[in-house]
Amino acid sequence: ARVDKAGYKHFMAKEIAEQPTVLADALRGYLDGDTISLPGEPLDFTKIERLTLVACGTAFYACLTAKYWFEQLAGLPVEVDVASEFRYREPPITAHTVALFVSQSGETADTLAALRYCKDKADKIVSVVNVAESSIARESDLALPIHAGVEVGVASTKAFTCQLNVLLLLALKAAVDRGRMTPEALAETLASLRALPGVLNAAMDRSDDINQAARQIAEARDVLFLGRGLMYPLALEGALKLKEISYIHAEAYASGELKHGPIALIDKSVPVVVMAPRDALFDKTVSNMQEVLARGGKVLLITDAAGAAEAGQDVWKTIILPEVPSILSPLLYAIPAQLLAYHTAIAKGTDVDQPRNLAKSVTVE
Ligand code: G6P
Repeated sequence: ARVDKAGYKHFMAKEIAEQPTVLADALRGYLDGDTISLPGEPLDFTKIERLTLVACGTAFYACLTAKYWFEQLAGLPVEVDVASEFRYREPPITAHTVALFVSQSGETADTLAALRYCKDKADKIVSVVNVAESSIARESDLALPIHAGVEVGVASTKAFTCQLNVLLLLALKAAVDRGRMTPEALAETLASLRALPGVLNAAMDRSDDINQAARQIAEARDVLFLGRGLMYPLALEGALKLKEISYIHAEAYASGELKHGPIALIDKSVPVVVMAPRDALFDKTVSNMQEVLARGGKVLLITDAAGAAEAGQDVWKTIILPEVPSILSPLLYAIPAQLLAYHTAIAKGTDVDQPRNLAKSVTVE
């Protein structure tokens, strides 16, 4: 189907804005009342001992986020790797392993090769894809659509949150199957997920604040992103988005790694984006943030109202998002990460939808 910009200046802006709607639709496709129902072949997590998650680029960061979910919610050991490394590592695939591949296009050469490597080794090949007729979908035992609709912008936005959505539903199903979550607790989480589109719209309302920060970030040569736990993969995704479309050097670190290297880079010219909802790890992240502030670093803190009240005093700027249950925070914090990259690229005048040297789908090695 042909898609147009529907009045937006860029496909990326349209695709960012579409997220509340596409996520609501995608969620409906996976729920039968308060039960998670997967299309196609059944997937019984009681028989699975290990999950191997493989992808490239943004889809890899969705996998990294999912590792935290599967481990914490379902107690399921997870291995995660980028496809280009995985495929040549000769990784042993132990019995009762499900190999799961995440790909927007379903055509990424390295991811497809990694899938083929697992074919006669894993118990089951599952894929999470946007393009249902793709090679990766066809070669899987079970292909789970993310229902993001056509994504045109080279920098992935709505496909990322829709990948997160399906991966979270899988982790929740695994938690229930494995007796780690009661149906009541699941129903409660699903209610929060159903309410998420409204929350994402509230996050979109922070666009002007983010734009103001972006105008100054556009002047920077290097930007550092920090996060812990579920916010670590989000920090990586934020840095990836920024470098892809604004060409500013951006790096992400797990907050706890700050002292093992990146702290040497901190001075007043390096903006540091700290992603930290007021969750169980908040105090730890804030103490890392203090180390940045003590060295004159310019901190952009992305948090919620409780987090801002506790730690927003000495920072350069604070972006305040609604509060959500911690496990849903990746879906919410993706929005400011995307908007920050978008507005920074606009301020720099770069080609947002067609960044130099990058392709939407990489079908060569
Ligand atoms: C390219 C795109 C990225 C994407 C990655 C993986 O690098 O520019 O946006 O995340 O490929 O693509 P896939 O289609 O496998 O998700």
